Amino acid sequence: MLSLFGQAHGLVGEGIKMNKLNSINKVTIKPILYCPARCEFCIPRRDNYRRLRANSESQMRICDYEKLIVELATLGVQEICISGGEPTLYKHLDCLVRSISLSNIKVSLNTNGFNLLNRLSKLIDSGLNCVGLSLYSNKIDIQDQLKKLDGIGAKAISLIKQFNNLDKKKDRSVKLYLYCILLPQNAHDLYQYLAFAEAQKVDGVFFSPVQGKLSTDNYYLSENNICTIEREIYEWVNNTQINLTSQKDAIFKFLDNMKTNACSIKHGVYKLDPDKPKSCEVSKHSFMILANGDVHACNMIEMAGEPPLGNINNSSLKEILYGDSKKVFDNNVHKMCKYCAMSNTILIEMT
Ligand SMILES: C[S@@+](CC[C@H](N)C(=O)[O-])C[C@H]1O[C@@H](n2cnc3c(N)ncnc32)[C@H](O)[C@@H]1O
Ligand code: SF4
Repeated sequence: MLSLFGQAHGLVGEGIKMNKLNSINKVTIKPILYCPARCEFCIPRRDNYRRLRANSESQMRICDYEKLIVELATLGVQEICISGGEPTLYKHLDCLVRSISLSNIKVSLNTNGFNLLNRLSKLIDSGLNCVGLSLYSNKIDIQDQLKKLDGIGAKAISLIKQFNNLDKKKDRSVKLYLYCILLPQNAHDLYQYLAFAEAQKVDGVFFSPVQGKLSTDNYYLSENNICTIEREIYEWVNNTQINLTSQKDAIFKFLDNMKTNACSIKHGVYKLDPDKPKSCEVSKHSFMILANGDVHACNMIEMAGEPPLGNINNSSLKEILYGDSKKVFDNNVHKMCKYCAMSNTILIEMT
């Protein structure tokens, strides 16, 4: 599982004694199921959230999160990612970050940057370790078009510049990663994108194609798009000042893999890791909890609106994580797994 804090986590403290659960190291929480942007490839998720907002009686309160964080710490969880919807709209975000940090769990934020510029230094003071900023283009008009929200591109670029200007000694331990979905709309601009990320000294860039069964083919990559992506990334790899020696093989393998599977990728279908065809590793190391208490095995399943593994308002977290639904999930390939792009994701580290 790719993680902002390194791929392999060691186990700490109580987690060692808790047999199977001790392999869970990353949890994503989604305290807000609303977003002002309108990314078309996120429509299935936003539709689900609208339904959940209308139907859910109980939304998790900050005191519920505080109890949950204590429990996650005892389970050996090492990283909590706060996502959404758009998490910078969550009014108790500072408090949430502080609680996680005080439990010695690393805390990251996955955001489009909507409401972060003015809150960044307070969040850093509260213990924020990492921001994963979704940026699909360094051209603000393209970012606005893809997010379908005027001004969101300018905010994201300002945020990146603000990071670059952080006091290197005091605040620069907080990391900034960019999350870029590879799309027909940005394929030809990736050299510029990577050059921009390098110039702004971001810590790294995650690339992956779009995931999910979408109602339009507009965001799936054609064979031509994949050739363009390969050309653009190769060009940057050949020109960058960053020492990529230890990363080149992984980058080339990622590009080769996309070319080999281009026929299915153009329909949004991704090949599972051929070495692990029987089940997926992601749910063995991570899970997700939504604002209404629903627990999901992974991002793809949550986005697809599949039934949750359980809800923490009705069962304890341990009952859910040791329960039958979780066992079935862990030992089988789910029908939505072929639309998951996790096996086609690469992190290019820049620092
Ligand atoms: C659902 S968003 C929530 C956080 C925040 N609103 C944002 O956009 O960063 C979490 C991540 O999912 C990514 N994402 C959304 N829809 C996607 C899709 N269909 N395929 C791949 N990634 C997707 C976004 O780019 C973002 O990095
Ligand atoms: S900004 Fe994030 S949550 Fe909002 S619509 Fe886009 S991907 Fe979905």
